[in-house]
Amino acid sequence: MYSVSAEVFREKIFGFFQENRRDFPWRRTCDRYAVMVSEVMLQQTQAERVAPRFLQWMERFPDAASLASASLHEVLQMWSGLGYNARGQRLQLAAAMIVELHGGTVPWDPDILATLPGIGPYTSRSIPVFADNLDIATIDTNIRRVLIHELGLPEDIRPSGLRCVAEEVLPKGRSRDWHNALMDYGALELTSRKTGIAPLTKQSPFKGSRRWYRGRLMRDLLSAGRLPMAGIEERYADCPYGIASIVDSLLREGMAEMYGEMVGIPGAPGSAK
Ligand code: ADE
Repeated sequence: MYSVSAEVFREKIFGFFQENRRDFPWRRTCDRYAVMVSEVMLQQTQAERVAPRFLQWMERFPDAASLASASLHEVLQMWSGLGYNARGQRLQLAAAMIVELHGGTVPWDPDILATLPGIGPYTSRSIPVFADNLDIATIDTNIRRVLIHELGLPEDIRPSGLRCVAEEVLPKGRSRDWHNALMDYGALELTSRKTGIAPLTKQSPFKGSRRWYRGRLMRDLLSAGRLPMAGIEERYADCPYGIASIVDSLLREGMAEMYGEMVGIPGAPGSAK
């Protein structure tokens, strides 16, 4: 059916894994909250860069309750350097829902996980795979490349088709190791440069884009605490989108709040420099 049998494919991937497995802090725990944090961080940032940030995060926010009760300002400070702030914000919202609706325990059921903010189809499945060794398949950009290349599938295969294939080749009872092995094979051996199979990842915002201005303003707010609206208008007078409209979206999304004439991230110290 495919270019190699499922058995041969599994032996190849597990053989590679035996010799080359990578050690990461999130691979040493079955704590579902820790796995959730790592998986959200890993959505956009390289594993080597995530590792130290993950350890810091777990020290400061060891469980859903501690994350839920922190200020957004502190959460985003702990998130800085990990990519879009919205992901850090959504991770905190997810923690709040876990406390409110699930007694502080991260659910294992992918359908329930998928109802949480920031948890998409990949992550809702990867959490129980890595935390609980659940026998289901999940497909990120590395795994997708490995399946397509090693099984000789068409590069434009539909996600639902690829999901079926992934379920078929999954070795039951070894889901956690299998997914780690696929990822290591994809990251170390079958890189996207080698295959020419394009990753489905987002680029960082290009200079001068609305997102770029937004990122700069958030960075200013994170380091200054609160800033006067007039000062922001002045500093970003060159913004072609109108900085006020960007501030408006931050206010609407709960990323920022007005404190009189000052703009700040909720929970920021009230200093104005
Ligand atoms: N990317 C996403 N999840 C990962 C994991 N568990 N190990 C390494 N890279 C990953």
